[in-house]
Amino acid sequence: MNASRSLHIRPATRDDLPEIAHLHEANWRRDYAGILPEYALGSRLTDYMAATWQDGALVDRRVFVARQGAEGALLGFAAMLDEGPSGGAFLDNLHVSPSARAQGVGRALMSAVAVLAIPRRLSLEVLSANTDARAIYRAWGGVESPEFRDRVMEIPVPAVTVTWDDTVWLVDRLSGARA
Ligand SMILES: CC(C)(COP(=O)(O)OP(=O)(O)OC[C@H]1O[C@@H](n2cnc3c(N)ncnc32)[C@H](O)[C@@H]1OP(=O)(O)O)[C@@H](O)C(=O)NCCC(=O)NCCS
Repeated sequence: MNASRSLHIRPATRDDLPEIAHLHEANWRRDYAGILPEYALGSRLTDYMAATWQDGALVDRRVFVARQGAEGALLGFAAMLDEGPSGGAFLDNLHVSPSARAQGVGRALMSAVAVLAIPRRLSLEVLSANTDARAIYRAWGGVESPEFRDRVMEIPVPAVTVTWDDTVWLVDRLSGARA
């Protein structure tokens, strides 16, 4: 799949929620195998995602979807909270489907979020064992905090916070204007 061709990014609507829940669940089951215990990645995960992506999910989050063409396959999504746990904007989730990765979809979604975050700082939390995502955030200039104990579905997991203090700089970096 060439995901970067006819990539459409727009704010999510209620009609997108079931597909977002499905992609989010599939990504966690795939990418968090060996990070979260197996018992958490079965029906408990399905229930958790169904609860997370109910209609109300769009009330307190700004969510973007990336599709192949205006109404084509869902390639990824990003969700942002206007106010994170330590102030500033907070990237709550960034997910791209496995077959669409490494083709610029994540960067395009991150750009949409970063533009909205200006002039505030932007932060996110990533599991320590998610080394691929951490490498990408570092390459985009994100600064990691010391490790802390996060809770995912009530399960304690080591994680780090990644912060961009200068979101104008981040937008330029993502657009290729800065190395
Ligand atoms: C992390 C994720 C969202 C990135 O999305 P993506 O569409 O694959 O990313 P892109 O194709 O836009 O690539 C982003 C950049 O990282 C680079 N990159 C890709 N894979 C990389 C890797 N494993 N290590 C280092 N850099 C990498 C790309 O070259 C690109 O660089 P550029 O911005 O300078 O062009 C996606 O891989 C994903 O959904 N992962 C699983 C879910 C997850 O871990 N989400 C984050 C939770 S906090």
